[in-house]
Amino acid sequence: MTMKSLSLLAILSLLALTLPLAIASDPSPLQDFCVGVNTPADGVFVNGKFCKDPKLVSADDFFLAGLQNARAVANAVGSNVTAVNVNNLPGLNTLGISLVRIDYGVNGQNPPHTHPRATEILYVGHGTLFVGFVTSNGDGNRLFTKTLNMGDVFVFPEGLIHFQANVGRSPAVAFAALSSQNPGVVTIANTVFGSNPAIDPNVLARAFQLDPKLIMDLQAKF
Ligand SMILES: *[C@@H]1O[C@H](CO)[C@@H](O)[C@H](O)[C@H]1NC(C)=O
Repeated sequence: MTMKSLSLLAILSLLALTLPLAIASDPSPLQDFCVGVNTPADGVFVNGKFCKDPKLVSADDFFLAGLQNARAVANAVGSNVTAVNVNNLPGLNTLGISLVRIDYGVNGQNPPHTHPRATEILYVGHGTLFVGFVTSNGDGNRLFTKTLNMGDVFVFPEGLIHFQANVGRSPAVAFAALSSQNPGVVTIANTVFGSNPAIDPNVLARAFQLDPKLIMDLQAKF
């Protein structure tokens, strides 16, 4: 054996030793929370869903139809997200992947939001979208944007705030894959100004450096 292959062997055996330690962590959660209880009778969730008896599984557990249909976009933001995740396609349980169809009206947008559990890779099926994401505070809150046309692909890293806006003259449609069976969505405006119950307007006034009256106007929209 040469010196080079010997040191490669040494690195590989070191890796083999350290790898099991490096991955000894809690599994990432598959829902917003899973409060522990001591008696199984009081529990409803595991981390994800219960598994169907394999003998009872059929092809339909892995199937969903209807994503060819455009959805209504006559709402405040002018877009409509159709999610395909473990909640309507049970075969996705434990597989770490899901899908959305997003329809955008003219001037419509998918407003700033994050997916707490997933990276998203988006494909433009029709139209022109201005898309972007912002890095976290420690990375300087950098904004990355791009104008996408039919056939273009863009990726939004896990957990970061991102958006898409239709800047074309016609309706647009995109499909996106997400790296979780249940990615979750935190729409910034809805969670901050539309929480239930409402966050004290004085708290938000200080946070956003705005008059509490303006905060109450924003809260009234939800
Ligand atoms: C999305 O589209 C469906 C079907 O067209 C419609 O029933 C639903 O109300 C729409 N959602 C929003 C938020 O506009």
